[in-house]
Amino acid sequence: MTTDQTEQAVQTEPTGPTAGRTPIVARTRAELREARAKILDGTVAVVMTMGALHEGHATLIHEARQRADHVIVTIFLNPLQFGPKEDLSRYPRTFDADMEICTREGVDLVFAPTPDVVYPDGDPGVKISAGPLGDVLEGQSRPGHYDGVLTVVGKLLHLTRADMAFFGQKDAQQLLLIRRMAQDLDFDVEIISVATVREDDGLAMSSRNMYLTESDRETALCLSRALTAGAEAAEEGPSAIRRAARAVLVQEPLALIDYLVLVHPTTLEDVPEWYRGEALLAVAGRVGTTRLIDNLPVLVGPGGGALEVFSDVPAVRPGTA
Ligand code: PAJ
Repeated sequence: MTTDQTEQAVQTEPTGPTAGRTPIVARTRAELREARAKILDGTVAVVMTMGALHEGHATLIHEARQRADHVIVTIFLNPLQFGPKEDLSRYPRTFDADMEICTREGVDLVFAPTPDVVYPDGDPGVKISAGPLGDVLEGQSRPGHYDGVLTVVGKLLHLTRADMAFFGQKDAQQLLLIRRMAQDLDFDVEIISVATVREDDGLAMSSRNMYLTESDRETALCLSRALTAGAEAAEEGPSAIRRAARAVLVQEPLALIDYLVLVHPTTLEDVPEWYRGEALLAVAGRVGTTRLIDNLPVLVGPGGGALEVFSDVPAVRPGTA
């Protein structure tokens, strides 16, 4: 598994050769092919997004700019990963503002296709299956979601022919599944993770935060606060972590919690009480009409606490570690 990982980016002014220059925009496969063909040498990084870009996305782009010679951003609201009752139709669309961020961050090429470009025959008959890891946590509330994510990520990797792809720790299960896909299906790409970017008060940045009313936003803070409280109990072991996090969540009845878990980073199974090492503390819940997720990688045991991203975690099951 490729597990090159990135410290939280230190935000500096973009200084790349293309910073401030409007990126080329490709809307069709032909336009993408033509623009991609002009990149003759150097490494190519891709940052995939669904638009409504915020500083979390900007940090991924910034990291990509630091690591690669050329940066492609994809902006595509992928219908395949939304369930029939989900927020596809109300998902924010802010293309002009997205282009401003891409320009500021020195992106070379923006691929912004419509669904008929990505899925010319409609719903693809063949999809990438996330397997059992796609059925738990987010997958349990969103059946088929990760098949839709992996199918589009696979297609966009093929279309952009990127050498490396950057994904946020914010979507920990998505990141894990993309790593697994790259490994299990022999994608020739380096998957690089970037720590979760937060607002000053701790709220994880998300395009869906735009749906929150002022009071929802206040309620939503319990998610990150619960994670921090859990991480502060990390030295005492798994049940202390879960207890500390739950104690924060129960104070906030307006947040309808779907799950709070402490799981192994690669199997997503609950870690047993004796477990020491890296674990994922993850939470999901509904605030108002908005479903929010957040997580914190933690080191459980002596000297433990919150981590920004996981180190290279071998794919061992907690029962056999
Ligand atoms: P989207 O939600 O737009 O997120 C695009 C990328 O930005 C993902 O890798 C996500 O993890 C990262 N990201 C979002 N918020 C972040 C934050 N606060 N800190 C750090 N990274 C953050 O995730 C998707 O789109 C889609 O599922 C996609 C991968 C594009 C496939 O359609």
